Amino acid sequence: MLPAPVSTVAPSLATGRPIRWGVVATGSIALRVVEDLALLEDAVLHAVSSRSEASARTFAEKFGFAASYSDVGSTPGYERLLADPAVDVVYIATPHAQHHAVALAALNAGKHVLCEKPIAMDAVQARELADLARDRGLFLMEAVWTRFLPSFCRALEILRSGEIGEPRWLRADLGFVPAYDPEARIWDPAAGGGALLDLAVYPLTWALGVFGEPCSLLASGVLTPEGVDLQNSLTLNYDDGAHAQLITSIGAECPSVVTVGGTEGWLRSSAPLFNPAELIIQPRSGTLRTEEFEVLGHGFSYELREVTRCLQAGLTESPFMTPEESVGTMELLDEARRQMGLRYPSDPQTPTAADPLAGTPAPHIALRAL
Ligand SMILES: NC(=O)c1ccc[n+]([C@@H]2O[C@H](COP(=O)([O-])OP(=O)(O)OC[C@H]3O[C@@H](n4cnc5c(N)ncnc54)[C@H](OP(=O)(O)O)[C@@H]3O)[C@@H](O)[C@H]2O)c1
Repeated sequence: MLPAPVSTVAPSLATGRPIRWGVVATGSIALRVVEDLALLEDAVLHAVSSRSEASARTFAEKFGFAASYSDVGSTPGYERLLADPAVDVVYIATPHAQHHAVALAALNAGKHVLCEKPIAMDAVQARELADLARDRGLFLMEAVWTRFLPSFCRALEILRSGEIGEPRWLRADLGFVPAYDPEARIWDPAAGGGALLDLAVYPLTWALGVFGEPCSLLASGVLTPEGVDLQNSLTLNYDDGAHAQLITSIGAECPSVVTVGGTEGWLRSSAPLFNPAELIIQPRSGTLRTEEFEVLGHGFSYELREVTRCLQAGLTESPFMTPEESVGTMELLDEARRQMGLRYPSDPQTPTAADPLAGTPAPHIALRAL
């Protein structure tokens, strides 16, 4: 079972010197995360960048950022932000396909990095980021916010206590049906669209948290005519006989909960599993009980506190969400993509036998059939 941070102190409270943040992109998750960043006493909202001058300025005015940068000629706004010496750490909130290039540029500019999930499009890219951060002595973390939530940390504490015995299996699902729009990143192969890269990180976070790295993975899925996965199913097997079954979907609604079965009882989260407000625990020889959790803001302040704490302490990685774990997650997603035949334009265009992403094509389905 992975370690989890345990803190009874509100994440808004300062833990040291002010940290000056730069935010790359002004989309929907950037908006929500910055609303929570503004709650941290020791966060300085210094700079934001966007492709568009109007978006950068509007975002900066809304939150009181001192500087805003946008594309000028062939220079992207984010490069101008990275040249700002007052920025300590960059939060990257672009679509998946831009994470690697922006994070690489940020690390090369000497900035610490918090990057949205998935950290990159594949394990090769993730490895390059992890190695560069280590070589340059810079902080790098994938923004897997669930890892830092009080409910997730408490779940691991309960499981570690042995209250439900030895965890033997885990089942988790996450899904919803977004409106079909070929321009939207979730339906677009060039943006790394589909359920796997967008959603599977959350069920995987639970499985990796409870059981660690699997010894094998079995994946299946169906693709849209455009070539992103509409739905996928992953089975993770462990040396000791435990296993996890994970489903993510953008073609069907899901309860979006996780259940862990142990030799002495079971534990279940409420929905959504990426930020559950309740844990339900049923020990075999006890009464069912529910534990409730409230989060500050949207719930992102816990991961933001961890980044702040690490930077203030001079750490180059969080012990609770390391770059190596992100590389390991991307390796699992690569293997799932190989088995599903899910390829993106960013993949090598001529698959060879040595290509880790070469696989048997998954069945394609027409959206109108749904
Ligand atoms: N942690 C979470 O709970 C959570 C939730 C949702 C999404 N995410 C992750 O956050 C990332 C962004 O998701 P989102 O829902 O915020 O997407 P979104 O609403 O489409 O916003 C992405 C933003 O990135 C910029 N952008 C778009 N296309 C770009 C391109 N080709 N090159 C450079 N920048 C581009 C745009 O900002 P500008 O116009 O300002 O440049 C856009 O508004 C994804 O990787 C996703 O997996 C995380």
